[in-house]
Amino acid sequence: MEYTSAALTDDIFNKLKDLVYEISGIYFSEQKKYLLETRLSKRLSVLNLPNFEDYYNYLKYSPDKNIETKELLNSVTTNETSFFRDMPQLEVFADILKQVAKAAEGVAYKKIRIWSAACSTGEEPYTIGIMIKENFPSSGIKFEITGSDISGQVLDSAKKGIYGSYTLRNASSEVLKKYFDKLDDDSYQIKDNIKNMVSFHNVNLMDTKEIKKLNEFDIVLCRNVIIYFDVESKKKAIANIYESLKTGGYLFLGHSESLHSITSLFKLVGLGKTPLYRKE
Ligand SMILES: C[S@@+](CC[C@H](N)C(=O)[O-])C[C@H]1O[C@@H](n2cnc3c(N)ncnc32)[C@H](O)[C@@H]1O
Repeated sequence: MEYTSAALTDDIFNKLKDLVYEISGIYFSEQKKYLLETRLSKRLSVLNLPNFEDYYNYLKYSPDKNIETKELLNSVTTNETSFFRDMPQLEVFADILKQVAKAAEGVAYKKIRIWSAACSTGEEPYTIGIMIKENFPSSGIKFEITGSDISGQVLDSAKKGIYGSYTLRNASSEVLKKYFDKLDDDSYQIKDNIKNMVSFHNVNLMDTKEIKKLNEFDIVLCRNVIIYFDVESKKKAIANIYESLKTGGYLFLGHSESLHSITSLFKLVGLGKTPLYRKE
């Protein structure tokens, strides 16, 4: 497909970046103008629009504006992820999971609820599912994993559960054998026993009302997402997550992210180098 050669003017860049920010909390600074331009030029070609101003007007006024807004979100999000991403952090996650499970010993019908907030194409929640199967082979506890993302496109892919070898580069051959069906040389499908542990939802971390429907989590992983937000959006997303956690529940952020100057509601609990927070 040939992409447009139309340039994104400063005026339209400001309008588009404000619109993206309003909807998603994702902030494109002036330095990221080229990124927005590259990502949206494909939409101009698909819609056969001559320039970005027409695209902006289409997003605002077309009868198909709601459909296009979804496409806009698919285009502007960065969805990079992989299985077993940041293993040192996942080891801390496994320790915390064991602690939560121990606290549940003797409780009848115990459930442990885990939320992979902004799960992209599903590698994170499926990794959690595999870790649960490995660490709790015969537990009476019911583990529920929720995966969510603002992009419908990545969730469609997550629900299919088909992956290439690159995203599986950190998975051992034992894990591949045990939890995936090999479809061909470079594609593997997650087995149903892991797939069935995860439910996927299209949720915007800015949407307080929607997030209220997701609640009572013991652990939330919100990794490598708030780096795309400005301080105000970070505050909003974290406040929403706070409400979704049980008291005493844990929050994992990406290793380069922190709650510094975002909120003091969580307690930073020192477990190695990984940022780990507890709702007090
Ligand atoms: C880089 S991926 C991180 C995936 C995974 N958590 C990980 O660490 O591997 C960031 C994801 O955040 C999602 N995202 C961005 N803004 C969001 C928002 N406002 N609400 C929900 N998800 C959002 C994107 O669609 C993208 O899939």
